[in-house]
Amino acid sequence: MSILVTGGTGYIGSHTAVELINNGYKDIIIMDNLCNSSDNVIDKIEKITGIRCKFYEADIRDEKALDKIFSENNIDAVIHFAGLKAVGESVKKPLEYYDNNVNGTIKLLEAMKKYGCKKIVFSSSATVYGDPGVSKYVEEMGRGNPSSPYGETKAIIEEMLESLYRAEPDWTISLLRYFNPIGAHKSGLIGEDPKGIPNNLMPYIQKVAIGELKEVSVYGDDYETKDGTGERDYIHVVDLANGHVKALEKLTTPGIYVYNLGTGNSYSVLEIIKAFERVNNVKINYKIAPRRPGDLSRFYADPTKAKRELNWEATNRNRRYGT
Ligand code: NAD
Ligand code: UFG
Repeated sequence: MSILVTGGTGYIGSHTAVELINNGYKDIIIMDNLCNSSDNVIDKIEKITGIRCKFYEADIRDEKALDKIFSENNIDAVIHFAGLKAVGESVKKPLEYYDNNVNGTIKLLEAMKKYGCKKIVFSSSATVYGDPGVSKYVEEMGRGNPSSPYGETKAIIEEMLESLYRAEPDWTISLLRYFNPIGAHKSGLIGEDPKGIPNNLMPYIQKVAIGELKEVSVYGDDYETKDGTGERDYIHVVDLANGHVKALEKLTTPGIYVYNLGTGNSYSVLEIIKAFERVNNVKINYKIAPRRPGDLSRFYADPTKAKRELNWEATNRNRRYGT
């Protein structure tokens, strides 16, 4: 089975490529325009697995490049990670986000259709729930109003895929809604390495740990949470990657399938900082800062549907998180 992984040199894509290979899917084709990653990840995946993925440096909006990839390979399924993901940046540059994420996905789907490949696993996000007024998110709640253009692109792509399925019910489409991925492969060879100053908590903490940044700003300590700081459902990236393997394996009949990929637990910002200090034996300087606009106080996944239907659950959820 040949699988095209878009955005496959990125954080979640690279871990997913490794897990696919570990599960016997040896024919992995990666396409990435390298706007937020490096092609040396291909060497690292090979070092970890012994398998070299075929790599195309290409943009999903480039129809000619897609033609080349689909005509040179007999692709059975696509796992679609390619996209821009910085929430704050999306507020400042909405058109870039709609163009890259929405337009890029349209081009990709058109190419898939042209070459008769009708199986896609899409990287969605818990942000599509918007602000539903409860902390535990369950798939049946449906979509709300995401708090950023980034989130809107994810909701629009979900809607687009639903429309596509209604029009062409021979597609097999998985919408995987990730909660907060953190951690890295145990080899230490691949991990999260964002370009510029990180937006997300864990890479920010890591940069403080190595002295590249001075201190973490804890955005708000007056939420109605266990210690006043924001709570999230942090999921190990290897668990998340395995969710994609399960989606490929289990979802073999046409349909549109939606799953939360989270642990079902939430931890506060201060708990994460303390756990990082304890596990790595380092001091993380932090200061309490004002709330970040658009942030919710607390949310976490109800992961029971993925367990019931995909036989997937986060196995690292009770472990202490390292880097
Ligand atoms: P990442 O930035 O590490 O990976 C995305 C990859 O896509 C990068 O390698 C980038 O170079 C590539 N890319 C971007 N635009 C492209 C384009 N037009 N053509 C080809 N390649 C392109 O991000 P990630 O954390 O691995 O996220 C992967 C996916 O998961 C994204 O769609 C993201 O929105 C989604 N997601 C991430 C999180 C998270 O917290 N990391 C949460 C929910 C959903
Ligand atoms: N936080 C800080 N300081 C920082 C960064 C974050 O205190 O420097 C706090 C936030 O306020 C929040 C928690 O740490 O309480 C997690 O923040 P992240 O930025 O790491 O993650 P978010 O929950 O804001 O966003 C993530 C993904 C988005 C996705 C969203 C909903 O990055 O892509 O989850 O699924 F849309």
